[in-house]
Amino acid sequence: MTPDAPDSRDLLSFLDFHVAAGVDAVLDETPHDRFAEPEAPRRAVRAESEPPARPAPIAAEAPARAAPPRREPSPQPEAPRAEAPSTYGRSAAAAPGEAAGDARDLAATAATLEELEGLLARFESCALRFTAKNLVFADGNPQARVMFVGEAPGADEDRVGKPFMGRSGQLLDRMMAAIGLDRTNAYVGNVVPWRPPGNRNPTPQELATCKPFIERQIALADPDILVCLGGVATQALAGTKDGILKSRGRWFPYRTDKREIRLLATLHPAYLLRQPLQKRLAWRDFRALRAALDAGRP
Ligand code: URA
Repeated sequence: MTPDAPDSRDLLSFLDFHVAAGVDAVLDETPHDRFAEPEAPRRAVRAESEPPARPAPIAAEAPARAAPPRREPSPQPEAPRAEAPSTYGRSAAAAPGEAAGDARDLAATAATLEELEGLLARFESCALRFTAKNLVFADGNPQARVMFVGEAPGADEDRVGKPFMGRSGQLLDRMMAAIGLDRTNAYVGNVVPWRPPGNRNPTPQELATCKPFIERQIALADPDILVCLGGVATQALAGTKDGILKSRGRWFPYRTDKREIRLLATLHPAYLLRQPLQKRLAWRDFRALRAALDAGRP
C-alpha cells in the first residue's frame, strides 16, 4: 500500500513547524550538509551565485550618500587603489581567532565608510552572511555628532538592508525625536551587520568576527558621542561585563584610532517594547544625551 500523498493541510502544518522552530529563510530546493562538503565544491557553489570575478572598484559600487554637512569631515588618508578581489576571508567555518584576525586586518584597510561597506559585502568569514538577505550597514547621517549602535538586524532590517526599520526602529525614531534627533542628524549601525537566523542572539564568535568592522565604522564616522542600545552592544564596545540594567545611564570613555569620545549605555528599544515601564529609565538617558550634545564637543 502506498502512503497517502500529503495534502495542503499537512504541508502547511509542516511549514508552520519550521517557522516556529526559527527556520524562516529558504536557501535552496534540496537540503545540503555543508559540514560534510569539502571546501572546494562549496566555494564553487558560491561562485555561481556571485558577481563576476573582477567587480568594479569598491568605491564605485557603494551607494551614494547625500548628507547635510553638519561639521567638517575628518581628513581621511588616501586609499590604496589596488584591484579588489571578489571575496575576502576564509571559509565561514574558520577558527574563531582566525576569522576575527582576518576581519581586523581587512577593516583596517578601509579609508572611507563606503570602502568599509564594500569590504564587508565581500567578507566571507562570518557564516551569517550566507543566511541573511542583505548586508545591513548603516542608516542616517555619517557626519552626525551622535551614533547609535544596536545589536544585529531583525527580519525587517534584513529585508530593507537598513538598521532599525521594524517596531523597535519606530520606537527608536520616537525616542530620538523627543530630543530633537532623527536620521538626518544621527547615524545608526549595528555591532553585527547580518541578521542571525530566526532572530537568535549573535554568538560570541560572530560578535568577535564582526567587532573590528563596527570599530572601524565608528572611527571613520568619528561621532562625538556613541550610544549603545542594549547589553550586547554595550558589552561589545564599552569593555564592561555588567548587564545593561547596571550599565545603562553610565558614560564610558571610548577610544578610536583618532581620539577619545564618550559612550552612553542605554536600554534597547526591543526591550522597552516588552517592558514599557522601563521607558522612564531610557528617557533619563536620552535627556542626559541631549544635555551632552548641547554642551558642545568634548
Ligand atoms: N535590533 C537591533 O539591534 N538592530 C536593528 O537594526 C534592529 C533591531
